[in-house]
Amino acid sequence: MSRLITGLALATGLFTTASAFAVEISISCSALGKEYEICKQGVDAWAQKTGNTVKIVSTPNSATERLALYQQLLAAGAGDIDVFQIDVVWTGILADHLQDLTAKAGGGIGSHLPAMAETSQVNGKLLAMPWFADAGLLYYRQDLLDKYKRPVPQTWGDLTETARIIQEGERKDGKGDFWGYVWQGRAYEGLTTNALEWIASYGGGTIIDEKGEITIENPKAAEALKTAAGWVGTITPEGVLNYTEEEARGVFQAGNAAFMRNWPYAWALAQGADSTIKGKVGIAPLPKGGADGRHAGTLGGQLLAVSKYSKNADAAIDLVMYLTGEEEQKRRAIEGSFNPTIVALYGDADIAKVNPFIGDLADVFSNAVARPATVTGQNYNRVSTEFFNTVHQVLSKRALPEEALNRLDRDLKRIKRNGWQ
Ligand code: GLC
Repeated sequence: MSRLITGLALATGLFTTASAFAVEISISCSALGKEYEICKQGVDAWAQKTGNTVKIVSTPNSATERLALYQQLLAAGAGDIDVFQIDVVWTGILADHLQDLTAKAGGGIGSHLPAMAETSQVNGKLLAMPWFADAGLLYYRQDLLDKYKRPVPQTWGDLTETARIIQEGERKDGKGDFWGYVWQGRAYEGLTTNALEWIASYGGGTIIDEKGEITIENPKAAEALKTAAGWVGTITPEGVLNYTEEEARGVFQAGNAAFMRNWPYAWALAQGADSTIKGKVGIAPLPKGGADGRHAGTLGGQLLAVSKYSKNADAAIDLVMYLTGEEEQKRRAIEGSFNPTIVALYGDADIAKVNPFIGDLADVFSNAVARPATVTGQNYNRVSTEFFNTVHQVLSKRALPEEALNRLDRDLKRIKRNGWQ
């Protein structure tokens, strides 16, 4: 009898400890800059709190390669990854493979930036939780602007001129590998975000408008591409045609460029203890396309989604809610300059102290230019691929802007056929 009671007690004991039901969740985190390390700290904290374990699956840095990997895994119905870090432009593409989180998010989504909340939903279903918001920004070397007595450029014309002056001056001073302006020119999703900024800043639209009309073949878009092609080999190294975010940051952070286009994450690294440019960097909105153009930063960012094929969906959802919650978003903003998606954190004094640009550039984030992902749904990746390949041809002088845009217009019409969805 007593043995039975002991047995029962033991069983009950086991029943109440978390570890008896501990599961292993696997999450894919991207590893741009400090992203992996900061993701790891977050998942470790959740693991500690819940008694579960978390395995991080690292993924390629290029957004385009990462999407291909996800599509392969999900198409096979593989449950290997429970939680996916997905790009804001992928929710429509991956929708069929993601769990609906509506019931689990409580009233949560309403506290997020509206543009980010929108990217998390498809046909009324909440398929991901916003994790951090991105917008394209101009990084500049304040010390060099001071040295050459130049203001922060307001138009692409100003930037071209100032970059040239600084580049010539620094090269004369013995820095033979110094460049004016670095950005992301490889044929991948990052080029779509850069080129959309140039085109939108000239008033050339967003490739496809909100109604689904293809608008890319227009003189302003051609002018924007012509301007950018003019940088390659003059103020920008030819190598930019193979740069993603990290290659551009490598050149800028080594002190070898006056200007860089990048996302907010580069701030925490440029200001890091081991950075050669610490204390010399400023951030501004990207330049306008001429006096009557506008400052345009592409809206980017990442969400966390749970796979339909997860065998531990409850724990996976709990992890997503923890990582996208206020406390963790605040920690990530301070440690890694990842812009929160929770609106209330924009008034947070601790975040403002380490990342002054988050408050100063609030306009850039609220007016960020969205890629045509919602309107093109499942077809977005095809649209973006045609677009970045076309832009890459123009940048590498294999095609003239007007003829390239004419061809792109035709290719997009073929993809659209009877509609996007
Ligand atoms: C960043 C952005 C993402 C964008 C990608 C392009 O990861 O968050 O939205 O698509 O860069 O390289």
